[in-house]
Order: sequence, then C-alpha cells, then structure tokens
Amino acid sequence: MMRSQQWFVRDDLAGFLHRSSLAATGLSRHVLDGRPVIGICNSWSDLVSCNFHLRGVTDAVRRGVARAGGIAVELSTMSLGEALMKPTTMLYRNLVAMEVEESIRAYPIDAVVLLGGCDKTMPAQLMGAAGADVPAIALPSGPADPAVFRGRELGVGTDLWSYVDELRAGRMSRSDFDELEAASVPSAGHCPELGTASTMAALTEALGMALPGSATVPATHARRHAFGEATGERAVALARNGPRPSQILTPAAFDNAITTLMAIGGSTNAVVHLLAIARRAGVELSLDRFDEIAARTPLITNLRPSGEELFVRLNAVGGIPAVLDRLSPLLDTSALTVTSASLAAGTRPAPVEDAVLSTLDEPFAPSGGIAVLRGNLAPDGALIKTSAATPELLRHRGPALVFDDHHELSHRIDDPDLDVTPDTVLVLRNAGPIGGPGMPEWGALPLPEKLLRQGVTDMVRVSDARMSGTAFGTVAVHVAPEAAAGGPLSKLRTGDPVVLDVEHRRLAVDIPDEEFLRRAPSTRQSPRPRGYLRLVNEHITQADRGCDFDFMTDGGPAPDLAPRSIPAGWHGGW
Ligand code: FES
Repeated sequence: MMRSQQWFVRDDLAGFLHRSSLAATGLSRHVLDGRPVIGICNSWSDLVSCNFHLRGVTDAVRRGVARAGGIAVELSTMSLGEALMKPTTMLYRNLVAMEVEESIRAYPIDAVVLLGGCDKTMPAQLMGAAGADVPAIALPSGPADPAVFRGRELGVGTDLWSYVDELRAGRMSRSDFDELEAASVPSAGHCPELGTASTMAALTEALGMALPGSATVPATHARRHAFGEATGERAVALARNGPRPSQILTPAAFDNAITTLMAIGGSTNAVVHLLAIARRAGVELSLDRFDEIAARTPLITNLRPSGEELFVRLNAVGGIPAVLDRLSPLLDTSALTVTSASLAAGTRPAPVEDAVLSTLDEPFAPSGGIAVLRGNLAPDGALIKTSAATPELLRHRGPALVFDDHHELSHRIDDPDLDVTPDTVLVLRNAGPIGGPGMPEWGALPLPEKLLRQGVTDMVRVSDARMSGTAFGTVAVHVAPEAAAGGPLSKLRTGDPVVLDVEHRRLAVDIPDEEFLRRAPSTRQSPRPRGYLRLVNEHITQADRGCDFDFMTDGGPAPDLAPRSIPAGWHGGW
C-alpha cells in the first residue's frame, strides 16, 4: 500500500477530513482513489535568482505527474540564496534538510520531486530525502545564461573575483566595474561556471538521483521543461515501484560521485555535502576516501575556475552522461539509479569532440582536483583544490599572518603598513561551522592591496572557513577541528612558520609539537545564543563529518507518522 492511501483511501472520519481538506484546492474525492501523490519540493523564491524560474518548471513537473496518472502537490521550502542570505546559506542547509525530511514524512507523499539549484538547496533536499527514505528524484535548476562583458562570456563568481582584484589593483575603473555589474547576471539559473551549484548538479546525476542529462541543460532552455515533465512522470513510477533513496545512495554511488567530482575539478564544498548526504543515508564515508579516489582519477574537463570553459559547454558534448561514459573504467556502473536501471544505462558517448572534455588517456591533469591535507594544524583534515591553485605554491613554507576573524581581516588587509610579503601565509580563524557561524565562504582571503599592485596574483591561504566553488588560488580550507572548537588554528601566532606540502598531504606549523600543544589557545567568549544558533553551536559537527547536526545521524530510524484510525466522536484528532 502506498503511503497516501493511508490518508485518503479509508471510510472513517480521518479519511473524510483528509479528503475534504484537499477538496479546497480543487482535488475532488474521485481522484483521491489511491493514485500516487507526488510532492514537488520547490525552493523557488523571489530572493534567489538561481531558483527563480522553478515555478515554471513546477508546471512542467505537474504535467508529467498527471500524464503518468499521479496527483501533484507542491511543498514550498525555505530557499537558500548565496548572494543575499547572511552570514552564509551554509548556516541554514541543515534547517532546510530537516524541513524537507519532516515535510515528506508528515504528509501523504508517495514520492517527491526535488527542485533546487543554488548551492545549498540541492544538498539540503538530498539530505532530507535520504533521511525520509521515500522515493525521490531531483531536478537541478540548470545553469544561467552567461554574462557577456567586453565580448567574453563570464561566470558569475569566478570572473567577478578576478575583476575585483583588477579594481583593487587600480587596473580597472569604477565606471567599468559598474558596467560589469549591469551585465553580470542576465538570467535565472545557477552560476554558469563549475561552482558549487554546477558541481552538485553533476554529482546528483552521478549519484543516480536525477535523470541522465538533466544537470547541464540551461535554466532558460525549453529542454529544462521537457526534463520537468519526464521527471514528474518518473516520480509516479518511483512511487509505485521504487527504488527508494536507500537503494540508490549506496557506497558505490558515493564512490561514483566522488570520482566525478575529482574528474571535473568540482567545488570543495561538495566534500562537506557528500559527507552529510552519506551520513543521512547511513553510509560511512570519510575524508580519506576522497583522497584515495582523487589519486586514481585524472582531471578530464576544462571548466572554470580550474580551466577555461563554462559548465554549460558540457551540454553540447553530451553533458554528464558523456562525462560518465569517459569515466566508466573508474566507476561502478552497475549502481542503481532513479531510472530503475543502472548508471551504465544512462551513459552516452560524447556526440562530438570538444576541448572541454578530454579522456582518461589524455587528461588535463593526472590526478583529481582536490587533496586532503593533514598535520598538526589540521589533525582531522583540511582540503585544497589543487586544480585551481598555483602549481609553484603547492609546496611552500612561509610565516603566518593570523587574522582572528573576518572583521579584523577586513579592517587590516589593505593597510599599507601591513607586514606582509608574497611568501606570507595568510591565516583566517574563527570562521568554521561554530565560529563563522555556519562556515562562510571566506577561505579565499583577499590578497593585500599593496601586493596586488606589485602584480602578486596568488598567495597561500589557510582557514577553517569554506571557499566559493567559483574561487581559485592556493587556498587550504575546512581545517578541522576549527579554532572555535579549540582546534590548532587557535594556537597559531603571527610569524609561526607554516608548511604546505600537497604532494605529502601536509599542512603543519614547523615548531615542535610539545611546544605548540602547550600553548594556550586564543579563545573568544561570546554569550550563549538563543534559538537556531544555539542548536548550531551545540550540535553542529566539524567539516570532516559534513557539518550536519549530530542528532540527525545518531540513533535509530524515525517513527512512521502515517495516520491512525480515529473514533468518530474524537473531535479535532485529525
Ligand atoms: Fe546561486 Fe551561484 S549564487 S548558484
């Protein structure tokens, strides 16, 4: 029996109340006859341009659901928009994941379509769906149309960061920068380079949770609506026969997603999201697995910020099915997907050769785009996106310049008297899951203006923050445990020699351990917050565990919330 039948197909008072409630929306009793009810989990919002068009996509999903004999109901969820939400959308990812999980579980939903796009929306929805374990299928929002500035197609973030440095270095005028602003976001859809949103869209396909080919189609393209219809149709089939997320989100699926992440040079943020989704799905996944897979996976795409092209360019060469086809020898292609068939069934050879997609034999780099670092500065790990770093800086030793928090950094970084050279290692602490709070994307610290004016384009930077998937540079992020949790960054002092050695996966301060560990941490006392921030402070896990709430992955399964029978005289007990 499908879940919704427990609400609607019954002769008691509860059945009366449930059916009459939906009658107010125009759904008559005769359609609530046991056919599948499909929830459309929609993160549409006026405040999130990346998801702004999802209302229209919802109509397409509804058509697909109706065509396959189901009933579509829309569940609007909190929407997480990178540009406007402060201090960071990451602070609210877990809140949305809880909202999605509980909404699915508490309502008469037989399968759910997840409509997300901007960085945290898709991970949050996948986490929620994994926890609810009701059949689910995702449809990413699709990349926005690229901005065109002075004849060049731009990514929203990657190119903006370059132009910001140009402005600060005095090589770009204010009026040119205003012209850039006017051109920078020409349509709805997520950032068109390989930032976190594009990365998560690609990995959702690789996990088997979205229809093959759906990640790369532009947000404004008619085919996105065609994918909406197909996704709605497929959701009805999933409601009837499964599989459920727990049958798709297996260790093999996560290995496939990590392999794809490394092969495309995707965002470091995907690491925390995959860790969190895996733990919600009951899969043990550790940072070490990312490093193992990175070592055996060549970089085969040429996408910004690691390369030159925009994510949407992949669409012309067959999208993620073509990437997975090239990666097949490294994948478990027998993994089950939302199509009820294997991953292999959804792969397709690239229809044309294009410089954006290479092969395992002739890759752009011999190993994956992200390395896991450890050492006395990061005993529980840190990440560096090697594909977006300066090769000469991947082995570096320099004196630390420590900023206690984001405010201190903002006030001091452009001070002409700042004691800094290109060899200095810029360190930001108290920017992690607790310290941020929410682990904002502050990890790609701005370079000091006086060095920019000298032509310096990159420096080694270290922090317990994250960095935007659109950012680039030699940046070690996700240092765990974070300073606010008493991690080693809290003991680092300006002038300490810091060693980055990516080949040996090392991030360390080069002073004897006994001396370093004996130091008192630099701690900050802040009052115990109220509300949601208290939940974050007391239950958020560190980056190596996905920054989820500890109580969302501990303990046994959640109880079945399907309705019980209600005696006729029990008023109000719906
Ligand atoms: Fe939403 Fe980049 S700002 S995806």
